[in-house]
This record gives sequence, structure tokens and C-alpha cells, in this order.
Amino acid sequence: MKLSYFFSMPEAYTFDMPKVLEWTTKQLAGRVLNVFCGKNKIKGAVNCDIDPDMHPDVLCDAMQLSEIFSPMEFDTAILDPPYSMHQAVGNYNGHHCHQITAVRDQLVDLVKKRLIWFGWSIPATPGFKKIEILLVGHGGSHNATICTVEDRKFHSLREYTGDEQSQ
Ligand SMILES: C[S@@+](CC[C@H](N)C(=O)[O-])C[C@H]1O[C@@H](n2cnc3c(N)ncnc32)[C@H](O)[C@@H]1O
Repeated sequence: MKLSYFFSMPEAYTFDMPKVLEWTTKQLAGRVLNVFCGKNKIKGAVNCDIDPDMHPDVLCDAMQLSEIFSPMEFDTAILDPPYSMHQAVGNYNGHHCHQITAVRDQLVDLVKKRLIWFGWSIPATPGFKKIEILLVGHGGSHNATICTVEDRKFHSLREYTGDEQSQ
């Protein structure tokens, strides 16, 4: 697993930090679901948010993903939820996701290959392994942003492409 670090001035909207956007873009492969897209949409991805002010491609609560999308429809998902209730109230019009593990469990069914997480904690998604952790320091007393890449543990290429199920 790769561990890396750089400094960036903090921003309420993660991809307003150019180096974080650049790092994220390099991690993307295939069809991408951007679950908490905020104001910075990812070009070519399906960008979802609960806040109509963000003008997402799909306006929805992250808890509803399984009702909207089909199993294994995506190759990669980006998860950048509010990191605390304080942030949700101060920066995101009060919108928060209280059950991130329930969102994660839906993504295990929707995403074939990769989850890219942003937050103050390190996820441990069942059936996935850590590929890279990037720490973005912000100086002063700011919490660091922890960016984690997890890939599904595949036993074979057939498993990734879905051929295994059709046999
Ligand atoms: C950290 S910001 C995302 C920043 C984004 N990556 C960017 O750079 O612009 C978190 C976003 O999650 C959205 N959000 C909060 N609760 C949500 C929920 N339950 N379902 C979907 N989106 C939610 C907020 O509206 C906010 O835009």
C-alpha cells in the first residue's frame, strides 16, 4: 500500500484544492459515480447530491443509491461526504449523511472495482483492500484530510468483468 502526503490550504469544497483534484482524477477508471458531488462536478461521472443548489446530475439522498442504480453499474465511486455535523451546518446547508456505513454497503453492490474516500477516518470496506492513503495537511489546528483508495479483492479477471456470474 502506498502512503503519501502533501500540504494544501483547507477548502470547504474538497476539489477546490487543485492538487487533491489532480490526485483524484488520476485514480479514476471506467464509469464513475460521484456520490456527494458538491459544486465541483467530475467531468464524465454521474454526479449526485442531496442539495439542489449543487445542480447535480442526479438529485438524491446517498441512502437511495440502490433504488436508482443497478448492481455493478459503476467501476469507481468517489465518496466525499460532510466530515462532521459542524461542517454540514456551516458549509453544506445543513445536509449530512448520518449512516455512511449504509451508503458503503450499497456501493459494495454497485461498484465493480474502486472506492475513493475523503474524510477524517480510514474506511475498511468488506471485500476491498487498501491501495493508497494520501494525507493532506492543512497546517495550524486544522484536521488533515485523509484520502483512501480501496480496490475490490478480485480472484480472477472474470470476476471483475462479471463473466463468472453468467457461467
Ligand atoms: C464535502 S462536500 C463535497 C465536496 C465536493 N467533492 C466538491 O469538491 O465540491 C459534501 C457534499 O455532500 C452533500 N450531502 C450531504 N448529505 C448528503 C446526503 N445524505 N446525500 C447526498 N449528498 C449529501 C452536501 O450537499 C455537500 O455538497
